[in-house]
Amino acid sequence: MNTGDEMTTTTRAQDPIEASIDPSPATLPPRIVPVGPGRTADDARTGSPDVAGVAAMPKVAAEAVSITYGTKLAVRDVSLEVPERSILALIGPSGSGKSTFLRCFNRMNDLIPGARVTGQVRLDGIGLMDPDVSVVELRRRVGMVFQRPNPFPMSIYDNVAYGPRRRGASDRAQLDELVERSLTRAALWTEVKDDLRRKSGLALSGGQQQRLCIARVLATEPEVILMDEPASALDPISTLRVEELMRELRELYTIIIVTHNMQQAARVSDRTAFFNMGEDRAGYLVELDDTRTLFTNPKNQLTEDYVSGRFG
Ligand SMILES: Nc1ncnc2c1ncn2[C@@H]1O[C@H](COP(=O)(O)OP(=O)(O)OP(=O)(O)O)[C@@H](O)[C@H]1O
Ligand SMILES: [Mg+2]
Repeated sequence: MNTGDEMTTTTRAQDPIEASIDPSPATLPPRIVPVGPGRTADDARTGSPDVAGVAAMPKVAAEAVSITYGTKLAVRDVSLEVPERSILALIGPSGSGKSTFLRCFNRMNDLIPGARVTGQVRLDGIGLMDPDVSVVELRRRVGMVFQRPNPFPMSIYDNVAYGPRRRGASDRAQLDELVERSLTRAALWTEVKDDLRRKSGLALSGGQQQRLCIARVLATEPEVILMDEPASALDPISTLRVEELMRELRELYTIIIVTHNMQQAARVSDRTAFFNMGEDRAGYLVELDDTRTLFTNPKNQLTEDYVSGRFG
């Protein structure tokens, strides 16, 4: 069996699944479940007050986050919150810092030499910038899907079982069950169930590879999924499948997606954040609102110009 040992050191160091392999115990406390009595999942998504009149704690939050590469300011002073089980879309022109900002939620910028993040990022209210946070456990709880599907050069089964195995899972029946559940949730199971161990992940179509990568993230049992233009390399049919999948995943996970496709943002997300670049080329948050309002009745002229295609 191919164990993927031919992967380069760079791939390993930068891959969040690799990065999430750590035998040390988690330092983050268990998750808080904000959907309580009298509150529906939709209340949680929109941040509506609960019965006691207190808004639910956001699943993730950024507080005054600024990010520099060397001396270049790439993201300036961004604060926002994402309710649990909702989809936030990040849109904005190229270079406005969307990918850089997305990476702060699982501290992937730590892996980029010269990158420095200030401010605070919270998961269930817990500060992620604090030195005693287990970055490895964080990257398991906050998974990432990249623009180009990046299956490992091994079977479909081994791709999905990879993260759990590296974290010590070895019971065959449990792994089988986890692989099936993850592939089912990623809407790929029926297409691959007869070839699980025979077929390489690399032998799938681009759209199937992206769903495999989503299954690989789901198998690590994350709570939040970051997606950086996950459908931009896909054909229209695969794109629609991935969009459908995102809507389904929203029932279980909190998702932040970067997309250049405004129809996609409008179709899949609950709320949308528009980023732009200032005169100094640093990215900043112009406006965040529920998606329909942001696209049809934005408060800021810049947002209006961008969503109506006048620049960007
Ligand atoms: N690894 C890096 N080293 C140095 N500068 C970087 C690095 N990654 C991004 N930048 C710079 O930070 C700024 C924001 O880049 P980022 O990739 O976050 O933008 P983006 O909004 O995701 O753009 P796109 O829509 O083209 O993907 C850009 O000026 C970019 O050149
Ligand atoms: Mg980007």
